[in-house]
Amino acid sequence: MDTKLRRVGILTSGGDAPGMNAAIRAVVRSCQRNGIVPIGIRRGFAGLIRSDTEVMDARSVNGITHHGGTVLYTARCEEFKTEEGIQAAAKACRYLGLDAVLAIGGDGTFHGLRALSRQGVNVIGVPATIDNDIGCSHYTIGFDTAANTAIEAIDKLADTMQSHERVSVVEVMGRHAGHLAVYVGLAVGATSILIPESEFDFERDVIEQIREGRERGKRHHLIIVAEGIGRCDEIVARVTEETGIETRVSILGYIQRGGSPSARDRVMASRMGHFAVEQLVHGAESQIVCYRDSQLIAVPVETALTMTKSLDMYMHKVAYDISI
Ligand code: F6P
Repeated sequence: MDTKLRRVGILTSGGDAPGMNAAIRAVVRSCQRNGIVPIGIRRGFAGLIRSDTEVMDARSVNGITHHGGTVLYTARCEEFKTEEGIQAAAKACRYLGLDAVLAIGGDGTFHGLRALSRQGVNVIGVPATIDNDIGCSHYTIGFDTAANTAIEAIDKLADTMQSHERVSVVEVMGRHAGHLAVYVGLAVGATSILIPESEFDFERDVIEQIREGRERGKRHHLIIVAEGIGRCDEIVARVTEETGIETRVSILGYIQRGGSPSARDRVMASRMGHFAVEQLVHGAESQIVCYRDSQLIAVPVETALTMTKSLDMYMHKVAYDISI
């Protein structure tokens, strides 16, 4: 196939997300199919600055689809946020002879890509974060697996909390976004879901919910708290004091970022990785792969970073309506 691309750098950056490996595999194999040499860059932009790379081929991505994490390692790189760091990364791209840099990650990663693109480097981004907080894409790799991991953990918690007739306060990840909290909350039948996107009245939305639930015979209550709300210890203290019911906190934390990716994440990651390389082959310049209205499209990085998406408040309402 006739393509001007010879070498494409591939990196994963920011928080890892289950499905990143499936995306790496798809990218490497799609590169090979198009006669492009895939250059793996270790530890994200930090590795790019140091030209820490390895030439990859179909065999280097054997049997990685079902593993969580990322075989390329990842990092949050403070140096890359400085002008010198960006210049050094652009210089490394020229030194390595990269015709494009393909990065798999979240919002911070895409800001990094935009900085590189402003230095004249061709880039393409693939959205991957368990937070699902990328404005331009309705789906991000890793969200489904993280949700399933959280649900599995909460189901286990529910067994013990139910036996003791307690209230459980569970914090789920999501940084400043409540996508994971709402989705998980609906799936586990939460009594209340507290998210940063929506104001809440603690008395009405937590305490009254628990009291009313008790009156209706509900013996165990789950309060899902998005990471962006936090303050779980305060919540536990207040619930205990105001309801008199024993209350315990569980912060699910990093467990949500690990584990074998779900079918949805493997498939989305494979499709997105393949699509990203196809875009490059067809001459795309500095784009982000986005999943919108059930299809993959490419959006210029400058535009993509101005796009916003709102949380599904209807899902939040459904969870509330059927909560007790
Ligand atoms: O973006 C994914 C995420 O797990 C967020 O939910 C969380 O706020 C953050 O990363 C934690 O980051 P770090 O891995 O740097 O502690």
